Amino acid sequence: MVLYFSATGNTQYIAQLIADKLADQTTDLLERLRTGDHSAIHSDSPFVICLPVYVGDIPCFIMECLNSTPLKGSGKIYFVYTCAGYTSSGFRHAKKIAGTKGMEYGGSLSVQMPNNYVASNLNGIPDDAKIKELIAAAEPVTDEIAATIRRGGTLKSRHITLAEHVLCIFTYWFWRTFMQRTKPFYATKNCTGCGLCERKCPLGIIKMTDSHPVWTGSKCAHCMACIQNCPAGAIEYGSKTQEKKRYTFKGSVQSP
Ligand SMILES: Cc1cc2nc3c(=O)[nH]c(=O)nc-3n(C[C@H](O)[C@H](O)[C@H](O)COP(=O)(O)O)c2cc1C
Ligand code: SF4
Ligand code: SF4
Repeated sequence: MVLYFSATGNTQYIAQLIADKLADQTTDLLERLRTGDHSAIHSDSPFVICLPVYVGDIPCFIMECLNSTPLKGSGKIYFVYTCAGYTSSGFRHAKKIAGTKGMEYGGSLSVQMPNNYVASNLNGIPDDAKIKELIAAAEPVTDEIAATIRRGGTLKSRHITLAEHVLCIFTYWFWRTFMQRTKPFYATKNCTGCGLCERKCPLGIIKMTDSHPVWTGSKCAHCMACIQNCPAGAIEYGSKTQEKKRYTFKGSVQSP
């Protein structure tokens, strides 16, 4: 079974491709994350966990969910990440999660997809030609992944040195402590009150109040699900997102 979380569609696409190639099924973790449902999941086939990479690592809220959810049936677990090009401690933490659960670690690999992080002045969303190129290049990687899983092999990620691991853990800590603020989020007058942002938030911190979203926590995962999926383009993050293009995965072929 392929379990996945996807804020903007990249990971859902990769998860579905792998599941199709393995003739297996997918399970979206969103509702479990939103509701704190940690009931057991059963699969006779190996578990394949598909996740986006945040700050080089497995997003904390997904790590907590995986650690708390019993995985029954198959004793083998693989990890597949989508990222914009850089995965680090995620590779080490995947092995740790497998060990904690007493499962056989099948390895992990990342697949490069378009960047979805828009709430900073750093790398933005790629242009349409680059998006098309990245999506086209990702599909063959899933062939290799599925073939490896089918024959019971090991996905081989690059080696992460201890120094890189420690640096990544520090960076993630810094990010969680100082950068994941919700205060700058707001909805403009274009908001139609559809409530999609509330339903998309994996942490369940957006509450519709008088047909308007309110960010109830002081920090969130910054997954970008709310801001990127808003059909009215009505969500902004302070001045950082104004006039910036939004991104959600739109299919294997994007218009240039
Ligand atoms: C909070 C956050 C942090 C991210 N950090 C990284 C990173 O460290 N390395 C990287 O290559 N991509 C990073 N990305 C980009 C995403 O991993 C990438 O776009 C991913 O495919 C998004 O998947 P989704 O569409 O399934 O949510 C980050 C995205 C977010 C939202
Ligand atoms: S998704 Fe956008 S339009 Fe819908 S309620 Fe949220 S901010 Fe408003
Ligand atoms: S508030 Fe938006 S960015 Fe933050 S976790 Fe929820 S959906 Fe993701």
